[in-house]
Parts: sequence; C-alpha cells; structure tokens
Amino acid sequence: MKYGATITGIGAYVPENRLTNADLTRMVDTSDEWIVTRTGIRERRIAPREEGTSHLAVRAAREALQAAGLRPEDLDLILVATSTPDLTFPPVACLVQGELGAGRAPAFDVNGVCAGFLTALVTGAQFIGTGTCRHVLVIGADTYSRIVDYTDRSTCILFGDGAGAVVLSRTEPGRGLLDFTLAADGREAGLLYCPHPRSPAATLAALGAEPAPYIRQHGQAVFKAAVSAMAEAITTLLERQGLVAGDLAVLVPHQANLRLLSALAERIGLPEDRVAVSIEEHGNTSAASIPLALHRWVHTRGLHPGDLVMFTAVGGGLLWGAALMRWG
Ligand code: UT7
Repeated sequence: MKYGATITGIGAYVPENRLTNADLTRMVDTSDEWIVTRTGIRERRIAPREEGTSHLAVRAAREALQAAGLRPEDLDLILVATSTPDLTFPPVACLVQGELGAGRAPAFDVNGVCAGFLTALVTGAQFIGTGTCRHVLVIGADTYSRIVDYTDRSTCILFGDGAGAVVLSRTEPGRGLLDFTLAADGREAGLLYCPHPRSPAATLAALGAEPAPYIRQHGQAVFKAAVSAMAEAITTLLERQGLVAGDLAVLVPHQANLRLLSALAERIGLPEDRVAVSIEEHGNTSAASIPLALHRWVHTRGLHPGDLVMFTAVGGGLLWGAALMRWG
C-alpha cells in the first residue's frame, strides 16, 4: 500500500431512552439475574419511533469530524455499516452525506451485520491505501429495536440502538491499519438471520428460517462459532506480524456477550482488563458496538501513539474477521 490509514477522530451517540433489565422482566419471563449472569447486560438504549439509524449516525459523525478537526466537505468517502437502514434505498450513507453537507463525497452502506464496522473500516483503509482518498468517514450504526421481537426472551434481552463513527485519514505506511483478515461461511446463514416482510419462501426454506421479520438466533451455536472464529482471526494476525497477545494495548471486540468476551480473552491469552467493554450499558448494538467500545476506551483509559489495537467481530452470515492497528 502507498499510504497507511489511521483513526484521527472518534464519535459516539446513543439515544436517551433506557431499557433496563427490570423493564424487560415486565415484558417477558426473565430476570435481572439471568440476563446479567448469562450476558453481562444491564441496560440498552432505544431510539424514539420517529428517528432511524441515519439520525443516530449523523450525531456520531459530527463528533468524529470535530475530533479530527475536519469539515464535512473535507471527506472523500462516507461508509455506513448497518443492517437496519432507514429505507431499502437510498443508503443510510447518502442520507448522512446530505445531512452533513459533505459536498459530492461518494457514500454507500456496508451490510456486514455485527461485523459491519470491521468490514467498513477495512474497506475505507483500502481507499486511503491506494491514494484514492485522504479522509474517509466510517460509521457503524444500527437500530435493532426495530427488528427485535419483544415477545422472544432469548433475543430481546440482547440488543440496543446506537452509533459510533471514526475518521480514517492518510498517514505514512507502517502506521494505522497494519493487517486484517476477513472471512465468511454462507452455509451457516441459518444460525442468525432476520427476514424482511417479503423474503422469498425458497430463501427462507433453504435457511430453515421462520418468515416473521424479526431476528432469530441459535444462541449456543453462534456463541461457540463466535469464540472460535474471532480467536482464529486474532491469532492469524498476531502470528503474521510476529506478535503475541501481550503486545496488544487493547482488544476492541464486537459486544455480543460478556461471557463470550471472557472466553475469547482466555483463549488468546490476553488479560481481561485489556478488553474494551461497553456491553453492560449498551447491549449488543451490532455495527455500532466496536466504535462505541473504542470511544469509551479512548475517553476512559486512553491510547498512546504506537499502541497496538486489535479489532474483531462476528456476525450473521456467518462472517467474521480481525484488524490490527498501530495507533496514532
Ligand atoms: O452479535 C452476533 C453474534 N451473537 C452472539 O455471539 C450471541 C451468542 N450467544 C449468546 O450470547 C447466548 O447463547 C445467549 C445469551 C443468546 C443465550 O445464553 P445461553 O447461556 O446460551 O442460553 P441457552 O440458549 O442455552 O438457554 C438456556 C436456558 C433455556 O431454558 P431451558 O431450555 O434450559 O429450560 C432458555 O429457554 O435459558 C432459557 N432462557 C432464558 N431464561 C431467562 C433463554 N433466554 C432467557 C431469558 N431469561 N431471557
């Protein structure tokens, strides 16, 4: 690559309305104790009915731009990772581009579900690496409250709404994004899916999927697959770069389940206090979860130039991967 791509600004936004475990006990047969023990989640944020993914995305984007010291018209590309767009089309990225006033910057969505931010980050870095772009806005934003079945206790306790954004900017080679790995296995599509109201019967049948337009998940199978896939992706990058887990300043994983993150840290041999966690407050916010956890880490623990940051995620598809970044 001609250039490196590094994070020069971060933003985050979650809606004000909180959905606590106590609230959920009044909706389904569950308990605070079960939810905390099995998932680590204490509350999630829920967007108001009149707002969508684009509205959360714009707020996170404005903070990221301000942190980077850039104006919207400085952007060369806008990527929004989401699986809950406001509309089938135009893409959320175009709604964000228009709202920000980002001139004619190209803008498109990346649907990598819970691994969407990771996928978009890597995509943005390619545009910078080749010299095509100088500044790329990468947003992860989702409003899963729109696709959650609030009568299904196995899924409704997990998800929340939110958005996180980063500005990726050109830097010298050897800084910023150092390496990545992405993978998918479409044979496992039936493990985690969400039909839309007009999904074709043949597609649903092939997946063994229910037609209801809600998230359905085979939780235990996804849990096992997620730990193995993320551990393998991280190990691949560490070995390729001649590093060990202890060299990482922080691991910023997709926030699916706190038990899962503990199992992952143990599997790769990383102390748990070097794992960025925001799931207790936000639940699983899908594409927003990595930038929300990164935002919190940067503002509470901080990162120094040269620190090694590992990102990893897994999502419906199945698809997964990891990316390694040298901070600053
Ligand atoms: O973001 C994309 C990636 N997603 C993930 O990585 C998610 C991975 N999976 C998980 O996080 C976990 O599998 C869940 C949190 C979804 C479920 O936890 P689990 O420990 O795997 O529970 P389980 O599905 O094996 O269910 C155990 C029991 C069942 O009861 P029986 O059959 O043993 O009587 C469930 O019906 O827990 C029951 N259960 C609940 N009980 C109280 C399921 N949901 C609840 C609930 N409250 N909310």
